[in-house]
Amino acid sequence: MTESTAATIDGTNSGLRLELGDIREHGARDLAGGLAEALRRAVRGGRLPAGTRLPASRSLAADLEVSRGVVVRAYEQLVAEGYLHAHTGRGTVVSEVHTAAGGTPPPVRPFEPGNPGVPALGSFPRAEWLRALETAMRSLPDAELGYGDPRGHPRLRRALAAYLGRTRAVVAPLDRIVVTGGYAQAARLAAEALVRHGVPGVGVEDPGSVGVVETLRVGGLTTTPIPVDEHGIDVAALAATGLRAVSVTPAHQFPTGAVLAPARRTALLEWAAERDAMVIEDDYDAEYRYDRSPVGALQGLAPDRVLYGGSISKTLAPGLRLGWLVAPARLATTLTELKHSADIAEPVLDQVALAVFLETGALDRHIRRMAARYAARRRALLTAVDRHLPGWSVTGVAAGLHAVLVPARPVPSDALEAMAHAPGGLAAIPLAAYAQAVRPRPGLVVGYGAVTTDRIERGIAAMAAAAP
Ligand SMILES: Cc1ncc(COP(=O)(O)O)c(C=O)c1O
Repeated sequence: MTESTAATIDGTNSGLRLELGDIREHGARDLAGGLAEALRRAVRGGRLPAGTRLPASRSLAADLEVSRGVVVRAYEQLVAEGYLHAHTGRGTVVSEVHTAAGGTPPPVRPFEPGNPGVPALGSFPRAEWLRALETAMRSLPDAELGYGDPRGHPRLRRALAAYLGRTRAVVAPLDRIVVTGGYAQAARLAAEALVRHGVPGVGVEDPGSVGVVETLRVGGLTTTPIPVDEHGIDVAALAATGLRAVSVTPAHQFPTGAVLAPARRTALLEWAAERDAMVIEDDYDAEYRYDRSPVGALQGLAPDRVLYGGSISKTLAPGLRLGWLVAPARLATTLTELKHSADIAEPVLDQVALAVFLETGALDRHIRRMAARYAARRRALLTAVDRHLPGWSVTGVAAGLHAVLVPARPVPSDALEAMAHAPGGLAAIPLAAYAQAVRPRPGLVVGYGAVTTDRIERGIAAMAAAAP
């Protein structure tokens, strides 16, 4: 046997050349497995089209200088899997397999819905997270590697109850917390729970998060757009509908950056009490407020009317996919059942690592560090807009990871698009992209969390150069 040993299978588009070296690469210790994999790939890739007759096992074995048993075992394996057919009298033939058209798999498009609110991923506290993971791995009893409580590991729920109570004034009894796969899953479970409890539709902020609206719909709710102004959602407009649920971002409206005004907060909770309605509170980036302490969560005022949700996507990283729900008592069991049927529970190691991160104050320290950095970036944005986009203003409160740039005079939508796509510009999306029924004023939602201050200066200059 030499490495150059090869066999050619005819009757294919171009003739398939099987090299013993390649076969070894697929299965160094198991030649039959390696040959099966080479043939499987050729069938899937279209290089061995349906109907191609494979050489007799004896002849392929001779060409490859392997024992006949190797080829027989490879053929048998692929017959069992359905890639090949063994026909009496006709030998072994390639089956009809759904292969990618033309033999080349379609290119995988990156799934990157634009999101201006990405945190500074380069500042993720890797060393501390690694320590927390190690502590978690060392401290987890064997029994806790089994299927866990769908509501989440008790240690994380205890840490979350303390954290959310202390930082967000959330009332969070342990049996009402459900640890989720980010806010995205929290919203999905919230929608499914409301549907189960006979609530068919939900009001959504307009403009608002396209992703959240989509998730609520996929969860089974119909969505009705409710206008938003500089004081947050228009509660009178909500009350004029027959809805019994609404999804809001009271601490920092996404994307306009408004804070729900005190009178509206009261009105919203009164509406919920009168209608026996539920408020879904999306507290996505409330930790970051640069001009004053963040406004506490609505949930603390009415824990039985508010389904509260949040995540670590803004404070740590969206890729960790950890979030939470704090449910009113009457929805807690349903949400637990829904979480269980969705995916049993969140990964236990990550949950305990986050618990350690919260218990040791590592999250508080990280947020303090990052808040100083983000505040400086926001100031750099204001300076750069002043310098390069005279007449434009930056609206929304000093909070979060994004701001809205608003021109003094109306700017056509294609000009805003050109600015949003300007080479070297910041992550930017026209405000209109977040609108459903309303026609918002022209504006650009711009992310500044993930870019350094000098990049902000250059980015705004580049966008200004593309402005009309
Ligand atoms: C309005 C809003 N809610 C919630 C989130 C967080 O979603 P997740 O926790 O699923 O990453 C985002 C992220 O951009 C958001 O824009």
